[in-house]
Amino acid sequence: MQFFLDSADVDVIKKLALTGLVDGVTTNPSLVLQSGWSFEEALREICAAVEGPVSAEVVAADFEGIVKEGLHLAKIANNIVVKVPLTFDGLKACQVFCVEEIPVNVTLCFSASQALMAAKAGATFISPFIGRLDDAGHDGLHLIHEIAQIYRQFDFETQILAASIRHPLHVIEAAKLGCDAATIPPKIFEQLIKHPLTDKGLENFTKDWAKTGQKIL
Ligand code: G3P
Repeated sequence: MQFFLDSADVDVIKKLALTGLVDGVTTNPSLVLQSGWSFEEALREICAAVEGPVSAEVVAADFEGIVKEGLHLAKIANNIVVKVPLTFDGLKACQVFCVEEIPVNVTLCFSASQALMAAKAGATFISPFIGRLDDAGHDGLHLIHEIAQIYRQFDFETQILAASIRHPLHVIEAAKLGCDAATIPPKIFEQLIKHPLTDKGLENFTKDWAKTGQKIL
């Protein structure tokens, strides 16, 4: 399973990339706003820090605008994935990007029928927003289950990228459902490795080792 960081905060991305466990990054206009970075400058820095796919979202809503923006963003680095909205214009543009061999992340997916349409349009990634569905009183993980079932049935190559992750359990459940990737906010990425018993155990081992008076090196 690939782990992407859901962030446009260049410093945080650079820091976490050093773990060797970051396979890619997803950005969106809200994350760019939060980061305070200029979009293109941030993309250049992120693409240099992380080898894998870096999603850059278009803001145009019409077909021509999406194609124009997507072609421009794709030139920034060779690991850019153009992120388009799940609309007919977005999916038409997705087909153009496929011909140009530019990978596409289709975002804002909230239903299995939308995911099926995105796969038919040749999306590289589909991003079901599981947290926002949960927030609205639905079951985000059930959507992942449905998409996985449909994609397997027809051997679609579109990868399921669990998005709008709210807590570590979302990542675990998405993994159990066979998600290809999850895009994880930095805070939750750090929580994935934490366990109080690990901290406690390490503290005890360190104390006991000191009492032996020995050294390894
Ligand atoms: O990549 C976008 C998606 O993960 C958004 O998450 O937290 O704004 O629902 P959120």
